[in-house]
Amino acid sequence: MLPQDQGVAAVLRDEPIIELSGVGKDYTTEAVVVRALRHVDLTIQHGDFVAIVGQSGSGKSTMMNIIGCLDRPTRGVYRLDGLDVTWRSNDARAIVRNRLIGFVFQGFNLLPRTTALENVELPLVYRGVGAAERRKRALAALGAVGLAERLHHTPNQLSGGQQQRVAIARALVTSPPLLLADEPTGNLDTRTSHEVLALLQRLNREGITIVLVTHEPDIAACASRVITMRDGEIRGDVRNARPVDAAEALAALPLPEAADREQAS
Ligand SMILES: Nc1ncnc2c1ncn2[C@@H]1O[C@H](COP(=O)(O)OP(=O)(O)OP(=O)(O)O)[C@@H](O)[C@H]1O
Ligand SMILES: [Mg+2]
Repeated sequence: MLPQDQGVAAVLRDEPIIELSGVGKDYTTEAVVVRALRHVDLTIQHGDFVAIVGQSGSGKSTMMNIIGCLDRPTRGVYRLDGLDVTWRSNDARAIVRNRLIGFVFQGFNLLPRTTALENVELPLVYRGVGAAERRKRALAALGAVGLAERLHHTPNQLSGGQQQRVAIARALVTSPPLLLADEPTGNLDTRTSHEVLALLQRLNREGITIVLVTHEPDIAACASRVITMRDGEIRGDVRNARPVDAAEALAALPLPEAADREQAS
């Protein structure tokens, strides 16, 4: 199920997967107009791993919602995988979203009282995939994130990191070329954050494009490009030739028992 073949596809195509041109977003409330995005030009190529950083309120989530076709820009043009989606109907955008994008959120957003397996199968239900095929793909996705032993656990029976891995499996079960993650490690401790990042880096090496919002510099250091936002604009755009390998960083972290002892002393 994992998009291994997209690694090859990505090399063969030079069309960017994301292209924002002069994009702005205003939120109009009773009293004021908030210019959440002023003017954003951004191009992201297939296979890239981009971190978006910036102060609270700088427009990161607003931009992610536009990239994810969850919201429309007030100005400008958004092309997703070569297709101008700016003013497509909501139905058309829902189809595009379902085909091209996997989402991971800070709060995991799993259905409670629903097993890991059922949570991961859900996007396939929306796609009309038959029961046997759904089961097969969901099992493969959960295996890929290392949760083959937790298929029938509900979210409240899983740790935070495990819940986020279920959410990643759910995002990947449809083999989308693009994964969007808004603070995926925001609710996780340092160790678990690096575990999740190691998984994302592995998926990226297999070809999936990743755009991730984070407040944490050591998470951003794992990306190959870091975009800094401020006041609704992109103020920095830096390539990182040698991203930190999250699996290596994880191995170098003190063991949990040692960390507990440090805290206790
Ligand atoms: N639905 C909305 N209605 C009105 N204003 C909004 C809405 N959503 C966001 N804003 C405003 O737009 C600006 C950008 O918000 P956004 O959520 O994109 O910031 P952010 O960079 O993601 O911040 P954080 O790091 O706190 O998540 C903020 O000033 C916010 O108050
Ligand atoms: Mg945000």
